[in-house]
Amino acid sequence: MKARIAFLPGDGIGREVLVEARQVLEIIASEHGHEFEFVEGDIGAIAIERHGEAFPLPTREICESSQAVLLGAVGHPKFDHLPPDKKPERGLLALREFLGNYANLRPVLISEPLIDSSPLKSDVVRGVDMLIVRELLGGIYFGKPRGRDGDRAYDTETYSRDEVRRIARMGFKLAQLRHRKVTSVDKANVLESSVLWRETVAEVAREFTDVKLENMYVDNCAMQIVARPQQFDVILTNNMFGDILSDEAAMLGGSLGVLPSASIGGKVGLYEPVHGSAPDIAGKGIANPIGAISSAAMLLEHSFGLHHEATKIDRAVVKALSRHYRTPDLKSRTKEKTEERIVSTREMAECIRDFIRTPDAT
Ligand code: IPM
Ligand code: MN
Repeated sequence: MKARIAFLPGDGIGREVLVEARQVLEIIASEHGHEFEFVEGDIGAIAIERHGEAFPLPTREICESSQAVLLGAVGHPKFDHLPPDKKPERGLLALREFLGNYANLRPVLISEPLIDSSPLKSDVVRGVDMLIVRELLGGIYFGKPRGRDGDRAYDTETYSRDEVRRIARMGFKLAQLRHRKVTSVDKANVLESSVLWRETVAEVAREFTDVKLENMYVDNCAMQIVARPQQFDVILTNNMFGDILSDEAAMLGGSLGVLPSASIGGKVGLYEPVHGSAPDIAGKGIANPIGAISSAAMLLEHSFGLHHEATKIDRAVVKALSRHYRTPDLKSRTKEKTEERIVSTREMAECIRDFIRTPDAT
């Protein structure tokens, strides 16, 4: 196939990991006879510097004329003093909104070689395979009114029935392709918006009689994710809770660096690692490229339906880990692991690309 992909490296380690993901896609293209054209745009802090805003018009045009968007990360400490509406992060929120991507999918799959990197016991994390389905365009991130009133500041958590319905349907449909269980996470013992969420999810559940629905309060869920993560299949939740729970769940595999994400539901899918711009390690060449590379695999799967190619990337990632390649964030917690090889961003990515070129190598 022929496709145009918007390439938005953004800030910090986003730039370092995204070039690696792009090279992965270039190899896939040349090996499988596809043609991917990458068109680069600015977003986040770099866009504020170059264009005076975090999501400038040229980037908007690149995104809407592409079939998918691949993004690195946004955010820079030099803009810490700005109000939320002016920060680099606002560029990402504006992009999600512009594309209409209301569903954010964050799979947490603990492959065998990752178990040693987990801060939790191996029996707790072995076989974990959950998908966090986070509502991405509503809730307190976008709710009005928001602002200041003298010494008071306020934000608004708000959801409509339609907004809940569409994300719930997405969650149930995805559960049908997996283990047919949805855990809907809310705070319905306190928040009215959560009461509406719960009611609406129950309504949608009636359309999917082959999927089991369970409701869980968010505080309990935060605890269950570290106590018994194997119980989860699809976690369906709102924007804010999904943001928090996905960072927590990422640590089951020892690092936020391995988690990919897909934002879908709108015109053009957006794919980005869950980790941020990580200014503390930016420029050192040690960032973990797996989150970005796995996001490229999600792009092939969800935007282009290239299941075989996506699987090839996922397998190569597991193989590189099985060969004991570890970026520093994945350093094993069990001291005896002497075969472990601490590698750079480039070395890890090269190893993954080698396994894509020769999938049968060991
Ligand atoms: C994420 C990030 C973003 C969010 C920020 C950078 C706006 O934390 O994708 O999880 O809160 O959604
Ligand atoms: Mn986050």
